[in-house]
Amino acid sequence: MRKNIVAGNWKMNTTLPEGVALAKAVNAALCGVTPKCDVIIAVPFTHLAPVNDVIDNSKLGLGAENCADHRSGAYTGEVSAPMVASTGAKYVILGHSERRQYYGETSEILKEKVNLALENGLTPIFCIGEVLEERENGTFFDVVKAQIEEALFDLSAEDFSKLILAYEPVWAIGTGKTATDDQAEEMHAYIRGVIEGKYGNEVAENTSILYGGSCKPSNAKALFAKPNVDGGLIGGASLDAESFMGIVTAFE
Ligand code: PGA
Repeated sequence: MRKNIVAGNWKMNTTLPEGVALAKAVNAALCGVTPKCDVIIAVPFTHLAPVNDVIDNSKLGLGAENCADHRSGAYTGEVSAPMVASTGAKYVILGHSERRQYYGETSEILKEKVNLALENGLTPIFCIGEVLEERENGTFFDVVKAQIEEALFDLSAEDFSKLILAYEPVWAIGTGKTATDDQAEEMHAYIRGVIEGKYGNEVAENTSILYGGSCKPSNAKALFAKPNVDGGLIGGASLDAESFMGIVTAFE
């Protein structure tokens, strides 16, 4: 059966000492509990190796927030999937709406990134989600379906099975405006149906689909209680160990 997962996305926050301290705090908090989910933190590239040194990988998974769409070479300032993997990280967030919106990441680019991540043993946490206009004009199902089909449906069933998906309605990210648990469930069930149509019931049932967008301790329980919501991708609330743990412990 699919896993429940809570993943933090620190985005471009914390200096290295602050990040190491936060990772230590989350790691320490996890030592006292047996969460009903896998727990991951995705941190800035600069923090990967030092954070990996201070966490217990059996309790806390480590991921990057992005990787390059090339293996190596003359791409000044980029960080490749093999580089990320060499830090000890096991996950990489790909296709986050901020990357799509501010850095022009298209499905074509994301396809390359997903392939390189998988080749290097990294588990992509692949983000999809509609903007407000698409929610309001009713095209949100089509938009999300196209994002999945364009970037992911060339994968074999075996490779697709390695992915984690994160549905993040862009209008809910960092806005304090969460999708209702019913809106999340409706979309997650739809996404699972899209996966089933391509890869069959077993792959669809085994794919973890996380919700992201203003998820916090106060709304996590209701969201995670929905049958097709398998956890969360957490931005703002992952920057404080206590609030992050409040979400980690929200599974009944
Ligand atoms: P948020 O961000 O929890 O701050 O809304 C979620 C995300 O962008 O992954």
